[in-house]
Order: sequence, then structure tokens, then C-alpha cells
Amino acid sequence: MTSSSTTLSLVDTDPAELAVDAIVIGVHSQTTGPDATSGPAGTLLLADGAESIAAAFDGKLTATLALLGATGGPGEVIKLATLGTVTAPLVLAVGLGPEPTGAAPAPETLRRATGAAVRALAGAPRVALSLPLPDNADAPAVLRAVAEGALLGGYRFAGYKTTPQPSRREPVAEVLIAVPDAADEAARAEIDRATAVAGAVRTSRDWVNTAPNELRPPAFAEAVATAARAAGLDVEVLDEQELRAGGYGGITAVGQGSEAPPRLVKLTWTPVGETNGKRVALVGKGITFDTGGISIKPAQGMWEMKSDMAGAAAVGAAMLAIAALKPSVTVTGYLPMAENMPSGTSYRPGDVVTMFNGKRVEVLNTDAEGRMILGDAMARACADGTDYLFETSTLTGGQVIALGKRIAGVMGTPELCERVKVAGDAVGEPAWPMPLPDDVRKGMDSDVADISQVNAGMDRAGHMLQGGVFLREFVTDEVAWAHIDIAGPSYHSGEPTGYWTKGGTGVPVRTLLQLVEDVAANG
Ligand code: BES
Ligand code: MN
Ligand code: ZN
Repeated sequence: MTSSSTTLSLVDTDPAELAVDAIVIGVHSQTTGPDATSGPAGTLLLADGAESIAAAFDGKLTATLALLGATGGPGEVIKLATLGTVTAPLVLAVGLGPEPTGAAPAPETLRRATGAAVRALAGAPRVALSLPLPDNADAPAVLRAVAEGALLGGYRFAGYKTTPQPSRREPVAEVLIAVPDAADEAARAEIDRATAVAGAVRTSRDWVNTAPNELRPPAFAEAVATAARAAGLDVEVLDEQELRAGGYGGITAVGQGSEAPPRLVKLTWTPVGETNGKRVALVGKGITFDTGGISIKPAQGMWEMKSDMAGAAAVGAAMLAIAALKPSVTVTGYLPMAENMPSGTSYRPGDVVTMFNGKRVEVLNTDAEGRMILGDAMARACADGTDYLFETSTLTGGQVIALGKRIAGVMGTPELCERVKVAGDAVGEPAWPMPLPDDVRKGMDSDVADISQVNAGMDRAGHMLQGGVFLREFVTDEVAWAHIDIAGPSYHSGEPTGYWTKGGTGVPVRTLLQLVEDVAANG
């Protein structure tokens, strides 16, 4: 069940003459108060890119949009029939918020606005975007954002309905982006890059949105391995016997409660030619469904735990984009997969588990399963040898409590956490560094084993931090690492907004790709 896709191209002809089903322009909310963001609402302002459309409307476009209720607020979409003034039958004005003084709108503003516009145009096969693209060093980043917004806002999961829904319109099939020079090599490269990156985000959304009965560990491993082989990556899949024999105690323990056995998928990208010698490991949590196991979760909302493999989906999809982007750095993806179920064969509170690196863990709550499978996978990544280790997981409800649904929590080597934050800011996937306090580690001392899986008194204080503190035990000293807790940002249960549709968001695919490119460029 994969989504249908949208294709992108560049045009440099007059937007007023484009034979498309709709043309998208931007509008700013122009405020008159001393503080542009909180002052009283003022008049609308057409954004750059709307000039030729405005000319065709004989100077009446702004007033007409205002009459239709346009305020220029971020994400607002107002449609206007053009009645022959321009070739396209429809103009869609998308709100960009107040015009930033002396600058083009921030990339994320345009990414969201483009996503909202393309989503609102579902049903139109072919649309063009004539949005404010700066004529300076920011141009590539802004074009990239517009392209990503179009491809991601146009995403829709195919779903499982047996009868077609008459009210559902097909996502836009073709998006044209108006630029000063459609033959410009750098601009074309940005479109190719955005297509690869957004393709990966869409793949990870598809995997997250797939029903959990269709994506148990063997099926998920098969889907990832098939896509990775087709992309030209090296693929290794360990099955339950190999995991047991190989000493992967954490993956084996969590997986043993399910009839669908666990897997560990390893994907490798080896660059050709000169590299800076750095190696990157990406590790993603692949719990295909998290019931909590014997420490079972409440029924309400449990269905969202089909998204507990969002970390593995992000890593697997990012590896597919890496095969297309060909960065000059070695990247290895590790995707531990298990289904956390309660049964007669489940692991239980009180069990002591020997992990891949030999450390013994006292299990206190089978619902803290993510750290068990991740500890093994991270230790394996360190044993294989790496310089940087980025791990991402829907690890704790505590992340959502602390930082909300949009901002990921980052724990690990401080410099690398800062690098994750910078990468996240650059791509519109915000992440915030969090500490790994000694007292939290102290609270996880076990009476019988090397470490407790959670606070020994089941104290939920510093819940998210407990996850990071636990995972630190599975990283060797020479490896710089960062744990990115995406429990909130990886899944969007509200109404669509910007380029986020309902369900999987694809976070943090774009951050991981940004980090890999950063390491390739800067070591
Ligand atoms: N998969 C959950 C965390 C989660 C919660 C993800 C909400 C997305 C949304 C994780 O395995 C879990 O159950 N964590 C427990 C940890 C606790 C038992 C130490 C939690 O957050 O309560
Ligand atoms: Mn759990
Ligand atoms: Zn979980």
C-alpha cells in the first residue's frame, strides 16, 4: 500500500500564461503596528512572484483576495476563479505571514505554505507555483524547501478502503515551479535532491501508516531489504536464530513474546572515490507494534503504537535516499525489529537479559522495550566500527510531556547533540538537547544486574532522560553519539497542517540526511 507520487519540474515562462489547472501565489499579512508580528491587522501584500498575475488582474487582485477573506496568515489558502484574466482557471493565494524585512520568507515558512497549497489543490492534475524565491545565496535552500513542501503536502497514504470515496480528490500529479532560469544547473540539482529526500520521507510515512498486521518484523525486514537491494545498498538480515546465537539478548527478549519473530536489518552505503574517512552509523527503533507486553498498555490510543517503528522507518528510508544522493562518507543503517506482545513466551519483569555487549540488564517494565532492542543494535554498530552514531526512536512518552509533539529530544555527546539541533533547524525538524544527569543513572542501579532498564523504584521523574542514560551504556567511549527521541514528532494524529498529513510525518529523515551530508562535507 504505497502512496501515489507527485512529479516536479522547473519553468521560466510567464506564470500568467501557464496552461495549468491552478497557479499558486503568496500573500503576506502586512501589519501597521510598531511590532509587525503582534500589531493590528493591516492590509494584504502580494509576495514576490505574483507580479504578472497581479498585472493581469489590472491592480484589483489584492482587493479581491481581501474581499474573499484573505489575511495572509501562515498556511491560509484562498481560491479565486480567474475568469480568463490569466490562462490558469484558478489562482490560489497562500498566506506567508508578515513579510520579513529585507529578506525572503524563511525556508520552513515556504515549505509549510507550499504543502498547504498543494494539499488544498488535490483534484487538480497540474499546478504551478509562483512563490517568492530570493535572488541570493539563500536561493537553493528556499527552492529546496518549496520542492519538499510540494512533494510532502501532496502525500496521501493509499489506505485500505474497498470502495473508492467520491469525495476524495486525487493528489496533484504534477507541480511546476516558476524560477528565473529553468535551465540553471544548481536549481535542477535542488529538484533532484528534493525528489530523493521527499521520496524517502514518503516511504517512511508509508511504512509508519501501514497497518501493524501487515508489517510485523519479518514483513518489515523484507520490505526494507527489497527496497535497499533495488537501491544498490549492501543488505544483511539476521533472523531469530542468528540473533539468539549472536548474543542479541535484548532483541531476542522483546521478540520472544510474538509469533512473528524479530529481525536485525543492516544496510550499508560504501562511497566510491575520495572520502574524509569518517563513518556514520544510523540506528532506528523498529517495534512494529507496542502493546507494552506483560506490562500491558491501556486500550485507549494503543493503535498509535503501530508507529513505534518510526525510527527504523526513518533510518531505512534515509538509507534509500543516501544511495541516490551518494554522499562521500560510509553510512551503515541498523534496524532492530520486534513486536512487543504479551503471551506465554514473553519476557517478563524481573528477567535478567545479557545484551550484545555483555552487559546484564534487569527488566522492570516490559513496556520499556525500545531500549532493549536499541542497546543491542547500538552495541553492534560500535563493534562494527563507527565515528558517529545517530540513533532515533519513539522511545518515551516523557519526550512528549517535556517537549511536545513537534520538537524531538536529543541526548548524547554534547557537541553531537548541538550538531543535531543545528541540522534539525536547517531542515525544519526542530530538536532540543537534553542532559544525562548522574542522579538519573544512580536511580537505575540494579540490585542484581549491571543496570536496571528503568528507574529501580519505577519513578517516572526524568523519564526521557532515563532512556538516554540507559542507551549510553551501549556506546563505546571513542564513538560520538546522539539519541533522538521522536515519540511526539514522528506521528501526527491531528488534522493535516502545512506539509504534515495525518499519520507518519517522516521525522527525522531529513535531519539524518542533513547530518550525513554535514559529516561528508565537514568531517
Ligand atoms: N513506544 C513507547 C513510547 C511512546 C509513547 C511513543 C507515546 C509514542 C507515543 C515506549 O516503548 C514506551 O512504552 N515507553 C514507556 C516507558 C516506560 C515504561 C519506562 C513510556 O513512555 O511510558
Ligand atoms: Mn513500550
Ligand atoms: Zn515502544
